[in-house]
Amino acid sequence: MKRERWTGKMGFILASVGSAIGLGNIWLFSWRMGAYGGAAFLIPYLLFVFCIASVGLMEEWAFGRSQRKGAIGAFKNVFESKKAGTGALGAALGFIPVLAVFAVYIFYAIVIGWLLKYFVLSVTGAFSTMNIPEYFGTFTGTGETIGWHAAAVLGTMVIVLFGVRKGIEKANKIMMPVLFSILVILLIRSVTLPGAGDGLAYMFVPDWAKLAETETWVMALGQAFFTLSLGGATMLVYGSYARDDTDIPSASMQTVLFNFIASLLAAFAIIPAVFAFDLDPAAGPGLLFVTIPNVFDQMPGGHIFGILFFLSVVFAGFSSSVSMLEPAVEGFMDKLGMSRTWAVIVLSLVAFVIGLPLDTSMARFGLWADIATVYVLPFGALVSAVVFFWIFGADNARAEINKNAVKRFGKWFEPYAKYVFVSVALLVMILNIAFGGIG
Ligand code: ALA
Repeated sequence: MKRERWTGKMGFILASVGSAIGLGNIWLFSWRMGAYGGAAFLIPYLLFVFCIASVGLMEEWAFGRSQRKGAIGAFKNVFESKKAGTGALGAALGFIPVLAVFAVYIFYAIVIGWLLKYFVLSVTGAFSTMNIPEYFGTFTGTGETIGWHAAAVLGTMVIVLFGVRKGIEKANKIMMPVLFSILVILLIRSVTLPGAGDGLAYMFVPDWAKLAETETWVMALGQAFFTLSLGGATMLVYGSYARDDTDIPSASMQTVLFNFIASLLAAFAIIPAVFAFDLDPAAGPGLLFVTIPNVFDQMPGGHIFGILFFLSVVFAGFSSSVSMLEPAVEGFMDKLGMSRTWAVIVLSLVAFVIGLPLDTSMARFGLWADIATVYVLPFGALVSAVVFFWIFGADNARAEINKNAVKRFGKWFEPYAKYVFVSVALLVMILNIAFGGIG
């Protein structure tokens, strides 16, 4: 089977931006920015995302591209080339990030299911007649979510079935421009509401004192890693489909930038409106499924804006979920010689069935989501960085990252990647455990 390639740099960047933009941008970033110092939060966030996490992005892409394999095959190749007979160990290690991202996919699909339900509720205009805070509690954690969960798995499945170019790339080429356009429309609506000023102040007036608090820096760091989907499998497999002439350093800057713009647009679209209706900005599901429906229920024209909002979040969800399923699909195709069709069908069924017990219990859902994002995913990010920068070697890694790049990294990049980036990736893992989740 010939390995697929993105059609070009644009397709590659859009798919990666799609992976990066997800629930993290919507239900975490805006709240964190407000809670951790407003504009002041942007200092640690931008520092971490541009100077540290972007190195992880380039590492995963270059790793995948250099080996033309997903994590399992790429780790195996590197181990085997360093010492004959160690390939199996490498493959076993490479299995960890793939499993980690698949574990994230399992619960992410459930959340997309909830979003699909809320999209339909917004279309039918149900927010005006239902008890919004009560509804979320009676819907989630029950069998009622199963059908929606199935729809989310099916949607992801269909996109990934069509493959890298015709599925993932094409879907992102439609979803990303629509997502950005909707966010701009919502932003205009939000900031022009009477009373929006308080929300703008909450978000943007810098509270410099917050920079003296450790937690601000910790959360900015966690956000930077999670938002770029660093976990050692997703961006790695996307990189494995990148063409040799792709300028990785420049693509990484563009991906980080687009992802940041999306976060800011979402924050502008959400927070001022929340304040305009005297609601509390919340983080996590409460923001998306309680506060925001309340906003649209009260807003003039809220019906149509609600539909647009939930459509954009569904797109943000799918553009990430496809990137979480693809690493396992690639692994099945490469290791077991399965066709894409069978790999996608089998893995989708597995993800759905494992997700069923999480559908019916929020306690199980929370536990699973924590294990996947707090413990396993950061470990995947660390392992891939160690294998690429230490075992493959920082000099080889730099050459792969620099390949066909206009602006190339100098020799200084090698100790920076090997010591600074790897230490920070280790720190992210430790902090995740210490804080019970920072991503
Ligand atoms: N990067 C994706 C998000 O932020 C996973 O949700």
